[in-house]
Amino acid sequence: MFAGLLGIEGLDRRVIEAILDRAKDFQAVPGQPLKRLDALRGRMMVNLFFEASTRTRTSFEIAAKRLGADTISITAAGSSVSKGESLVDTLNTLGAMHPDVIVMRHAASGAPHFLARHLPVPIVNAGDGTHEHPTQALLDARTILDRTGKLEGLHVAIIGDIAHSRVARSNVHLLSKFGAKIVLCGPASLLPKQLAEMAPGVTLTTDMKQAIKGADVVMMLRVQLERIHEPASPAGEYFAFYGLRLEHLQLARPDAIVMHPGPINRGRELSSEVADSQRSVILNQVENGIAVRMAVLERILSQ
Ligand code: NCD
Repeated sequence: MFAGLLGIEGLDRRVIEAILDRAKDFQAVPGQPLKRLDALRGRMMVNLFFEASTRTRTSFEIAAKRLGADTISITAAGSSVSKGESLVDTLNTLGAMHPDVIVMRHAASGAPHFLARHLPVPIVNAGDGTHEHPTQALLDARTILDRTGKLEGLHVAIIGDIAHSRVARSNVHLLSKFGAKIVLCGPASLLPKQLAEMAPGVTLTTDMKQAIKGADVVMMLRVQLERIHEPASPAGEYFAFYGLRLEHLQLARPDAIVMHPGPINRGRELSSEVADSQRSVILNQVENGIAVRMAVLERILSQ
């Protein structure tokens, strides 16, 4: 039974492996037209986004369309939410339209879980507050596997605003299930100590060079200014301590890859030289976002 996808934490390793394997079938093959399938013809996916998104919202839409489903996108700004409608009333309205799956992003941690309890419709969490972003961790794992062939024993450095990052949390859950060693790194104010207890194999450091030393994967995170209510340090100051530059990569393994879920802020989290280098797999992550979301939607809707 795969009733929806609310998080990675409670997901069985075998289910993750099955999704990652299936996503491989949906990856683009150079020189060949993209696969289009009819598997979900007549089904309807509603994208319900209460927070900004470029990659996640669009790739869910492309994924659903490539499987033959119909899609509708609702954003808070263009909906009755902006006219003061409550979340429950918005959800009841959507429920009355009988969608087959709802993909939801919300600033409140737990909002998709609330929706799942409220409506008899499979829900996919597309990012809830600072909690989880399961499809991002799945597409990240697919991208790492494409380059390294394994997750077990990999040294993964996750660097930046760990405190507010649902991407970091979902990645820690996923990578630790597969035996990766994870180093979380950022300024002390953005690196809560409890995260070390989140899963086996997790360590913390405020020293970026130490985090990168010997890393197979360097995953950079955006500073989530929208979730930080004190004045943040200026981009240049942050970059001086926690911005990834080419010279840092000499400390990593020679074949190390650089990841970032996007949107990237050049000159804050990483330099342009790094973002545009051969080491960067940032656009591969975007591409895999479609393949992985196809695998997730197919799994939910074709049962
Ligand atoms: C991330 C998110 O929204 O959590 N972006 C994404 O989905 N690709 C990370 C971020 O916004 O920094």
